[in-house]
Amino acid sequence: AEHMHLHMPPAQIVVASNRGPVSYALQADGSLAAGRGGGGLVSGLSAIGQQGDGDGGAVWVCAALGEGDREAVRRAGRRLDPGDTGGHPVRMLDIPPGTFAAAYNGVANSVLWFVHHLLYQTPLEPVFDLEFRSQWAAYETYNAAFADALAEEAADGACVLVQDYHLTLVPGMLRDRRPDLRIGHFSHTPWAPPDYYRLLPDDVAEQVLRGILGGDRAAFLTARWAEAFAACCAAVLGAEVLRSAEGTATAVRFEGRTTRLGVHGLGADADFLRERAHRPDVEERMAALREQIGPGRKTIVRVDRTELSKNIVRGLRAYRRLLEERPQWRGRVVHIAFAYPSRQDLAVYRDYTAEVERVAREINSAFGKEDWQPVALHVKDDFARSLAAYRLADVALVNPIRDGMNLVAKEVPVVSEHGCALVLSREAGAAAELGDEALLVNPYDVEATARALHEALLMDTGERAERTKRLAAAATALPPARWFMDQLRALQAP
Ligand code: G6P
Repeated sequence: AEHMHLHMPPAQIVVASNRGPVSYALQADGSLAAGRGGGGLVSGLSAIGQQGDGDGGAVWVCAALGEGDREAVRRAGRRLDPGDTGGHPVRMLDIPPGTFAAAYNGVANSVLWFVHHLLYQTPLEPVFDLEFRSQWAAYETYNAAFADALAEEAADGACVLVQDYHLTLVPGMLRDRRPDLRIGHFSHTPWAPPDYYRLLPDDVAEQVLRGILGGDRAAFLTARWAEAFAACCAAVLGAEVLRSAEGTATAVRFEGRTTRLGVHGLGADADFLRERAHRPDVEERMAALREQIGPGRKTIVRVDRTELSKNIVRGLRAYRRLLEERPQWRGRVVHIAFAYPSRQDLAVYRDYTAEVERVAREINSAFGKEDWQPVALHVKDDFARSLAAYRLADVALVNPIRDGMNLVAKEVPVVSEHGCALVLSREAGAAAELGDEALLVNPYDVEATARALHEALLMDTGERAERTKRLAAAATALPPARWFMDQLRALQAP
């Protein structure tokens, strides 16, 4: 496939992210089944049209995540089959499995994820030992593989949009290889405050910041995360933070270069969701859920990847407190909890999944009756069923310890059938946009969360519908396509 690359015009827009728009599963008969990746990035990228390689349009560079993906790369060569990717030119990198696992699991999803979500607490505090050092070396190799591929793909003066904590070193590495490019980095996670960020080894803390500052722009989901990033640059690197007249951090100046800061609060894709939520598979699942809930009962819904920052266990404990303290709800409410598997290669995530299951079982055995099961926990990922639950929900519980944005909080009000009260963590990025209409809670405060659930269940239907309308308007203010184009324009601006 190498010779093909000579005929391929380089791209004007290049997106880089760990997870791409498609994933492959190897079937028993040796064929590959392509599944379309969801998420805002996929719908955002469709905004730049179905430009093929032929017109020097856009290319998406991502990593092969498993054996199915690797096999697809071996079979397809430099570009995946456009039939699998919704027409988008996608280059998937087959990074050696050991390097990938150390970078993705060891550094990105253990250390960097934990730092930005403030998840380290005794006895989970990190130990930066020899194993971490070899994982960090793998993270550098993995970032360099992206930088090499991007340097090859990008046309003269092209815009490159690098996504998330997996790829923090890429902007700096790419700048060294291709000083002509416009490079932006976007963080989908929160950013840790300096005192917490500094638990990283000094050289790692520095390299991550230097890496992002190698780009022309560093963008975040809310102003709070952008400010924290600027504060880390000042505290760790001694960089200068430039501010607007109102005091907002607008850029970071370091070693003679200026990196502009930006905020783009990714919103829900209303058109896609409303259409998708009314397909027959969703209707079927609504019928099944109604059956499970039983007539005349209220429904509290949560939908998360099973992941420590999502705070599912405290959410269940709050629900338990509701049933203990307010017996009037016994038999009158069902908590539908979807906790979908995530990052199961890591023991902390697996242990957390087991704990979620245990706490749900405890509630059911403490309060359940023959004709009423208080918690319905589902762990098998099913997007159609999530949408069905969104449509039915009376209350949605979104209580992360910290979250870059949280799209569930934005999707529920868009799809909700008869209005849904939202109990929302004040530590989710979404709280900055939805805080006026949601019931905000401190995610650590189980008692306060239980009270908020009670209030939400009691909210009268008129008020609930009104609030849901306003929530939906706020939640869809920056749909993925605009979110993507805004970033691109800001990066192109002189
Ligand atoms: C977060 C990250 C994304 C990531 C997603 C799913 O939203 O910001 O970059 O893709 O989690 O996690 P996974 O490890 O399955 O890609």
